[in-house]
Amino acid sequence: MKFKIAVLRGDGIGPEITDIAVRVLQAVGRRWDHDFAFTEAHAGGEAWDRYGEHLPAVTLDACRAADAILKGPFGGPTSEINHPKWAGIETTAILGLRRAFDLFMNLRPVVVYPEVVALSPLRPEIVEGADMLIVRELTSGIYFGERGERTVDGERQGFDTESYTEGEIARITHGAFRIARVRRKHVTLVAKSNILDSSRLWRDVMARVAPEYPDVTHDYLHVDNASMQIITNPRQFDVMLTNNMFGDILSDEASVLAGSLGMLGSASLNAGGFGMYEPIHGSAPDIAGQGKANPIAMVLSAAMMLRLSFQLEDEAAAVETAVRAALARGLRTADIAGAGGTLVTTQAMGEAIEAALAG
Ligand code: IPM
Ligand code: MG
Repeated sequence: MKFKIAVLRGDGIGPEITDIAVRVLQAVGRRWDHDFAFTEAHAGGEAWDRYGEHLPAVTLDACRAADAILKGPFGGPTSEINHPKWAGIETTAILGLRRAFDLFMNLRPVVVYPEVVALSPLRPEIVEGADMLIVRELTSGIYFGERGERTVDGERQGFDTESYTEGEIARITHGAFRIARVRRKHVTLVAKSNILDSSRLWRDVMARVAPEYPDVTHDYLHVDNASMQIITNPRQFDVMLTNNMFGDILSDEASVLAGSLGMLGSASLNAGGFGMYEPIHGSAPDIAGQGKANPIAMVLSAAMMLRLSFQLEDEAAAVETAVRAALARGLRTADIAGAGGTLVTTQAMGEAIEAALAG
């Protein structure tokens, strides 16, 4: 089979971890005889260098021509945040890509592999066996609502607006229930319905959609309570459904279960199943180019691509097994080195994953 992948290597640690993910995919291609064709395109800071903009039309065209997008993190050092190369990059490049392809369904699995239980600052008896999937709405809500600055009673007021239509909520809710069916069949909606009208609408839509999935149970938590329960009783969660903002915050928090942001991949899908795959962490410019970055989040994102865009379940599972094998050997990049093991570079971790894949 031939699969076309647009590769956006990204900024900071992006290129080095993306290269590892590409090598892992190539190893999969060799073992299973798949033809992965990679097209490099540019977005973010590297696109600014080439084209003077963060998300040029040529990049969107290259992505459109592909079967899936593999994306590294974008962004520059905080000290240069006002430089035009970096200013507004989150909105122009990251939100721009999400919007351009209507990638409304963001899947962020938080899996605590037995090999890395000790990495979490939480006690093993709490995190052991946790396996949740955050389903985050990604193309609406406060990220895309009316915003700006105005003058009220002579002083500046900044504002951002949270708003959701029934249709936007319904499509992600259906997505969450469908995924729950192939997991442990439970959906928890997280919102703030004791205060927010938009959250009340989420609950209404949930109540309307849920009966279509009689085999899936569901419950509801306020976001403040959910944020506590993620670290006190994470095993209760299967699928956690959230709006854009709460999912952003809770997914960083939940990464603590797995020991590091460097361990978590993600998928962002549209209604047609087209997807973009990226780690949930940022570009970490302070450690860029030093071989210190953890490539696992990027590699696990590539595994999600195999599973969700290409329906290659065995291959996806093999990549995940290879990651676990490298971890089981005690190999650790700097971000996960705290609990012992052997400190290795980004490249050495990548080679170990490739070696495990080759069998
Ligand atoms: C994420 C990131 C982005 C977000 C930023 C970089 C715009 O934090 O993907 O979680 O807030 O969605
Ligand atoms: Mg985030």
